[in-house]
Amino acid sequence: MQFDFSKFGRVLGGGSGIEQLMDDLGYALAEGGEHMRMLGGGNPATIPEVAEIWRREMRRLLDKEPQRFDRMLANYDPCRGNPSFLRALADMFNRHCGWDITPQNIAVTNGGQTAFFYLFNLLAGEFESGHRKHVLLPVSPEYIGYANQSATGPTFRAAKPQLDMLDDVTFKYRVNFDELPINDDTGLICVSRPTNPSGNVLTDDEVRRLSDLAKQHRIPLVIDNAYGAPFPNIVFDQVTPIWDAHIVLTFSLSKLGLPGTRTGIVVGPTGITAAINSMNAVVGLANGNIGQVLVTPLVENDELLGICQQTIRPFYQQKSRQALQWLQELLPPGTWRVHSSEGALFLWLWFPDLPIATAELYQRLKQRGVLIVPGEYFFFGLEEPWDHAHQCIRLTFSMPEKTVREGMAILGEELRQLMGS
Ligand SMILES: Cc1ncc(COP(=O)(O)O)c(C=O)c1O
Repeated sequence: MQFDFSKFGRVLGGGSGIEQLMDDLGYALAEGGEHMRMLGGGNPATIPEVAEIWRREMRRLLDKEPQRFDRMLANYDPCRGNPSFLRALADMFNRHCGWDITPQNIAVTNGGQTAFFYLFNLLAGEFESGHRKHVLLPVSPEYIGYANQSATGPTFRAAKPQLDMLDDVTFKYRVNFDELPINDDTGLICVSRPTNPSGNVLTDDEVRRLSDLAKQHRIPLVIDNAYGAPFPNIVFDQVTPIWDAHIVLTFSLSKLGLPGTRTGIVVGPTGITAAINSMNAVVGLANGNIGQVLVTPLVENDELLGICQQTIRPFYQQKSRQALQWLQELLPPGTWRVHSSEGALFLWLWFPDLPIATAELYQRLKQRGVLIVPGEYFFFGLEEPWDHAHQCIRLTFSMPEKTVREGMAILGEELRQLMGS
C-alpha cells in the first residue's frame, strides 16, 4: 500500500546523494567487494596501531573495570553526553588551545552528521517572523552530507571560490571575499576544515576573516573539524584551532577509527549547546556512549593527541603522497588537475576537458568495478550552473594500496578512451 508522506517526510525520506554514497560504501564493504575498488566513501582506514589501542581499551574495561563496562551498556547518559567525557574534553581544549570553556559549552550527538542536522535546522530555515534564513557555504564544493539536511527544503547558498593554479597540475580554492552572498537572510556560515571533498584547508587568515564577518552579522560561524585539529588532526600543515563566543566547532570520533560508535561533539555558546541537549532528548533520548567511554581516559592523559600527531596524521599524509605519485604515473598527462592535498582522506580531481559529465564517468567506472564520487553532488546551493561542477571527482585514498592503485589504473584507461592522450 502506498502512503502519502508529509512535507518533512518527503524532504528527508525522498532519497539523497549521501544515501546513494553510503549505500555504495556500505554494500561494497559489507559484501567483501572483491571486485569493487571502493574509492568512493569517507570510511577511515583501519590503522593497525590505532585499532590495537581501541582493542586494548575495550579489554581494559572488560577485565579491569567491569563496573564501568556494565554502566556503559546498562545506563542512559544525560542527553548532553557522558559527564566524564564532557569534563575531559573541556579540560583538554583549555589545556591545549588556551580556551576557557566548560562542559556546558559542549554537547555530544550521535555522530557529526546528526550535529549538522540539528545546527542547520536550529539556525536556518523558517523563523517565527516568517523570515527564511539560509546556510552560507563560502567555498563550494562542500560536504555532500549537508545537502539534504534541512527539514524545510533547500536552505543553502554556496559561493564560488577563487581557483588558483599553484603549479601545472595543482590548484587551490580560496574564499572569494569580494563575492560572498552574505546578507540579512544568512543564518550561519559553515565550512568544513579540512574540506570534504577537496582536501582544502582554509588558511588561518581566511578563518579569521570569516569569523569577523560572522561577528559583524551577529551570526555563528560553524567550523566542521571532522578531519581537523586537534583531533583527528588529518591536516598536513600546522593550523590554529580558534574559538569565540560566536563560533561553533564540531568534532567527531569517526576518523579516529571509531565511526561505528557514532560520536559527534559540538563546542559552542551555551545557548546553542543547550538547544542541542534538548534536541537529543526529543529525537533520541541519549547518545550512544561506547565511543565516549573508550576515549575518555585517552583524552584525560593526552594519549589521544599523541596518537593523532604521531600515527594518524603521518599515516594519511603518506597515503596522500603515494596517491599523488600514482596519479602522475597512471593518468594520461595533461588531462587532469588535482586540488592541493592539505588534509582529509580524499584527492579532488578536475578534468577541464572531459567530454562527458562526471556523473556519467561514475557509471562507466562502476561498471568496471571502481567506485568514485562524481563532483556534481558537492556543488549544492550555487545560484548559477558552473561547468566545473561536472568536471570533478572525489577519490578516497584511505583504502588499501592495491585497491587505490588498481582503481586509478582503470580511471586512467577510461580517461585515455575518452580523451585519447
Ligand atoms: C566533513 C564531514 N563532516 C561531517 C561528517 C560526519 O561524520 P560522522 O557523522 O561520522 O561524525 C563527515 C563524514 O564523513 C564529513 O566528511
